[in-house]
Amino acid sequence: MKDFNYYAPTQVAFGRKAEQATGRLVKQYGGTKVLVHYGGKSAERSGLLDAVCHALEAEHLPYVKLGGVVPNPRLSKVHEGIDLCRAEGVDFILAIGGGSVIDSAKAISMGVTYEGDVWDFFTHKAEVDTCLPLGAMLTLPAAGSEMSDATVITNEDGDLKKDYGSDKLRCKFAVMNPERTFTLPPYQTAAGVVDIIMHTLERYFSHDDDMTVTDSIAESLIRTVQDSAFKVLQQPDNYLHRAQIMWASSLSHNGLTGCGTTSDWATHFLEHELSGMFDVTHGAGLAAVWGSWARYVYLENPTRFAQFAVNAMGVRNNFKSAEETALAGIEALERFFRAIGMPTSIHELIGREITDEEIREMSRKCSYDGTHSIGGFKVLNREDMEHIYRAAR
Ligand code: NZQ
Ligand code: ZN
Repeated sequence: MKDFNYYAPTQVAFGRKAEQATGRLVKQYGGTKVLVHYGGKSAERSGLLDAVCHALEAEHLPYVKLGGVVPNPRLSKVHEGIDLCRAEGVDFILAIGGGSVIDSAKAISMGVTYEGDVWDFFTHKAEVDTCLPLGAMLTLPAAGSEMSDATVITNEDGDLKKDYGSDKLRCKFAVMNPERTFTLPPYQTAAGVVDIIMHTLERYFSHDDDMTVTDSIAESLIRTVQDSAFKVLQQPDNYLHRAQIMWASSLSHNGLTGCGTTSDWATHFLEHELSGMFDVTHGAGLAAVWGSWARYVYLENPTRFAQFAVNAMGVRNNFKSAEETALAGIEALERFFRAIGMPTSIHELIGREITDEEIREMSRKCSYDGTHSIGGFKVLNREDMEHIYRAAR
């Protein structure tokens, strides 16, 4: 087991009518003028936007609104938010949405207090010193941004999707009402579940094999969200199972499932190139490449993959070797992805064959022109990336 430092400072308000707490929470964390940041129409249509604004008004908190964040949030919207916050004297940002809105809010929060261009953080030219405090009203359990230290932004100039992480970016609070996820379309629900599983597995596939508590949490989390995914796809207003998925979203990405492990993250980096180039849904992109990554790397530690197969996927432990059990586990997770309507190849994801040139371009960007490798479980260079994309095509 590796030494670790677990830091998850976000206050969580969870349950029915939880959105009513937003005004009080903003005040508790010192906000006096708020940017209410949201996406397309979903929060307006459901009445959530109005409900949150009423909660701010009840605390006599002035606010300005900025909507229009798109999935795979864009740098131009972040710049717009920074300008608006400076012009209006905003001192607290409240995100209403999923990962895209929360990530856009995080990028605005660090850009407002920085004199240079906020993109500098994503290109490793600058480190965050201070930023505006922020909170989240979560509407889509998936990315885990409500408790994570990360933000992922797409620069339209070159379709570059890059992440940046700092503990300073953690939300002061996250408000979660599972009822507010009843309106999610099946595809977003399923993609969210894939992302939750992947945040857990990126930490699980590690060579530090002696962390039973962390493993058990991870395996239980994966089993639970699979079961709940089937339930909510059958019955979108099933509160109990929406709640399991929502809480799992936060726990899978607030560091808990990584205590004592090295973590990998290669599948995420490979996916960010797919959503940067093709603007696909992040969770669906992960499902499309994970199996090819897993088959490429599992021989590094077949016992670990066999443990995943048996404990997380319910594979019977009656194979002759750990290698065979491992492969059965990989197949079982891909079967689950297909059963909830997720792609397991790039052509299913983007609706056509990917070209060799596109594969080379994604590998070039992912490896920063061959200067960076990815992956903690198996270190992958540019050629390895090309191999995995080709296997997933
Ligand atoms: O824009 P609106 O109209 O709100 O519609 C959204 C959007 O079209 C819709 N939606 C959200 N809540 C809804 C709803 N529709 C109906 N009812 C609701 N309650 O869902 C669509 C997708 O939203 P989005 O926020 O893009 O999805 P998600 O939460 O999956 O976030 C994906 C983004 O997060 C990044 C991904 O790369 C991607 O850009 N990630 C962020 C991470 C982090 N900050 O820690 C880690 C992740 O690994 C991930 O990379
Ligand atoms: Zn993710």
